[in-house]
This record gives sequence, C-alpha cells and structure tokens, in this order.
Amino acid sequence: MIDIKKECRICHSSELTQFHSFGEMPIVNAYLKKQDLEKPEYKYPLAVGFCRDCKMVQLMIMPPYDTYIIPDENGKTHYSYVSSTSQRMVQHFNELAKEVERRFLDNSSKVVDIGGNDGILLKTYKKRENVLNIEPSDNVADVARASGIESVSDFFSEGLARRLVKEKGKFKVIHTNNVFLNIANMDDFLKGINHMLEDKGVFISEDPYLLDILSNKAYDQIYEAHGCFFSISSLSRLFEKHNMEIFDAEHQWVHGGSMRIYVSKKGRYDITGRPLGYLEREKERGIESLESFLDFSNDIRENRGEMRGLLKGLKMAGKRLVGYGAAAKGVMVQNYCKIGPDILDYISDSTPEKQGMFTPGMHIPIVHPDIFHEDKEVDYAVLFPWNHAREIIEKERDFFKRGGKFIVHLPHPRILELED
Ligand code: TMP
Repeated sequence: MIDIKKECRICHSSELTQFHSFGEMPIVNAYLKKQDLEKPEYKYPLAVGFCRDCKMVQLMIMPPYDTYIIPDENGKTHYSYVSSTSQRMVQHFNELAKEVERRFLDNSSKVVDIGGNDGILLKTYKKRENVLNIEPSDNVADVARASGIESVSDFFSEGLARRLVKEKGKFKVIHTNNVFLNIANMDDFLKGINHMLEDKGVFISEDPYLLDILSNKAYDQIYEAHGCFFSISSLSRLFEKHNMEIFDAEHQWVHGGSMRIYVSKKGRYDITGRPLGYLEREKERGIESLESFLDFSNDIRENRGEMRGLLKGLKMAGKRLVGYGAAAKGVMVQNYCKIGPDILDYISDSTPEKQGMFTPGMHIPIVHPDIFHEDKEVDYAVLFPWNHAREIIEKERDFFKRGGKFIVHLPHPRILELED
C-alpha cells in the first residue's frame, strides 16, 4: 500500500511515500525479564518510506527514545547492545583509529565519539586523554569509564555541543557509528556537529548502506533504532543544506555492508574520486526511484514466505531448531515471520546482559552459549546475526562436525553448507 503521505523528516517536503509496512512491532532491544512476560509490551506501526524530493529512505514513524531507553530503579539508563562482543568489530575499530591518527591528528587533536557505547573505538586511540565519549546509556558509558575514557551520559544536540565547546574547545574529529541514522532531528544534530568541529575538523560516520540493504534484501535492518537508510546521494543533499560536503567515502563490510563517510565544512579538503564512484553506482541501481523500493517490498514479502516455509517444514519433519545470536535484526525477523518458541527452543547469545532474558514480541528464551554447546540434539541453528556469519562459523566448527547445520535468512532463506 502506498497511500500514506507524511512529511519527510529530513527536508520537510510532503513527497514522502510509504513503500512497505511490517505491521505492529516491538522495540528490538527491549529484552524482557521472565516476570514481565505477561505485561503489555510497547508496540508501534513499523513502516518505511521514500522521499521523492530529497531521496531519503526513512521510517514513517520513529518511536521516541524514552519508549525504549528507560531508567532502572536507580535512575540509570540501560541499553542491551554492547559493541565489543565481536572480535572482528574490535579489529575494525582499531583499524579506523589508526587511519584517523595517520590522516588527521596531531599530538593535541581532540576526538569525540557520539554514541560511543562501551568505548570500543575510543579505547584504541593512543592518546586517551584527548578522547571523549558521549553516550546516553549509563550501563555502557560506565564500561567505557572503567577503561579510562571520559564519558558524558547525554544525548547529543546543538545545545550540548555549545556547552562542551565552552568547556573543552573545538574537536578535530567527531565519530558516529550506527548513530547518525537514528537521529530524529538531523538539522539540530548537524548544527551541533558544525559548531563542535574545528575549521578543518572531520565528521566521520559509518552506517548501514542502502545499496547493500537492497542487494542483500536486508529488511531486518529496518527497526526503530534505524530511522534513515543512507545513500551517498541522499546524504550529499543533507550536508549541502548545512554548508558541508562529503570529501571521501569508503565501503565497509560491517553490519552486512556499511558506508563510511568523511565530511567537512565546504572547501576544506580535496574531494577524492570515491564519493562520485558510489554516486554513479547508486544511479545505475535506481536508488533515486520509488520503483526500486516497491520491488524491495515484494522481495521482503517473498522472503517471509520462504523463511516460514523452511522452518515449519523442518519442524514438521521432527527436527530440533534453536537460534544463534539474539541480534536486533533477529528480533525483526522473528516478529515479521512469526517465529516463536514453538519453532526455536532458545537462542544462544554471548552477551551477559541478554542471557536469561526473553526476546521482544515472540518471547524466545536467551541462553548462555554453553547450553548450546552442551546440547547435542540440535539439528539446525538459525544464525540471526548473518553479518557475523564468518566469525561464528569459524568458532562453531564442532557444531558442523557433529552434523549440525546453520540456517540464514538472507538474501534467501537457506541451509548453510560448511564450504559456504
Ligand atoms: P549485532 O549483529 O547487532 O552485532 O548483534 C550480534 C548479536 O549476536 C549480539 O547479541 C551478540 C551475539 N553474538 C554471539 O552470540 N556470538 C558471536 O560469536 C557473535 C559474533 C555475536
């Protein structure tokens, strides 16, 4: 259905057209305690649209943060996503810090990471005294503090940027990783970035890339914490409005395909050939046309049918199925495809915060990986964090050896062979 028209959150035009609705969805990171399973869960209508003016793909409705980042009894906010669970991610951020030090920093340059989580990136910088984490969730900010990283527990805004600049001066580099796509008020955010950057300062942001989402049919990237789906084309328009420009860009393998952009105030750096190269590819792929997204909507529906067919068929054949990795993406798939504890006995996850909890919406129990390793009766494990498939398959060779098989849902639901 493409009949709902609302205002584009980015350029405020009325040319925002919905191209897919997922129905009512829970908050993907709102894992539940056993005693809360009977209580009503917050749900919202998840739908995604395309702005024919500024070309930004975006959620039709963004549930406000305070519906899903809620203080505990001690007033501390809690976020269940901890960045440093993947060794490959740790290595990825290590390489990013090295590159930034080489290209942009001198001994006194200051670096800030907005939404820096447990400090996964900042702790790889050589000069820890020059880095600052801005992280609204207390539990993960505390982990960063414990590694000696100064952390401000707050949401970034122009107001906060002004306060911090008064206190600490301007910054040479501002990072965001998987944060920029979730900003409800982009204009306020970019005014803050512009104010906080030195004259030749660089804003470096990494977010899932729309072209990869389309080619992987990765509908599981669409959930409340991902308000926008970026292309170089839509981002260029947004930065133009703020007198800034993308002077370099580099595709990354993380999160199933992300784009890293390097942005400065206009005219401060030579523009490399890379952003233009990506723009050309996007044009070829039809990223500026609603038709491409209507095709994507069909792919999503098809994928759901195939996934349900595959799992139900295995279940009917008497197989035992579990999940591997209680990723946010997986919660999307479980709720959209209606995969519950009647299909998956449990989900194994290495994040201590998630173990003993239940998944939002479908209420599948999450267990420590030891339970999965000791359980020799599992025939199939649905590998929800498909973006970490290589690392996980490498780690779980014993599961394969004893005849266990992984299932992935993207780009088409299928049973993985070891040589995959
Ligand atoms: P992500 O795709 O959003 O990073 O989430 C990955 C989830 O999978 C996270 O909850 C941690 C979990 N996980 C494991 O349980 N084992 C692993 O080996 C890896 C890499 C992730």
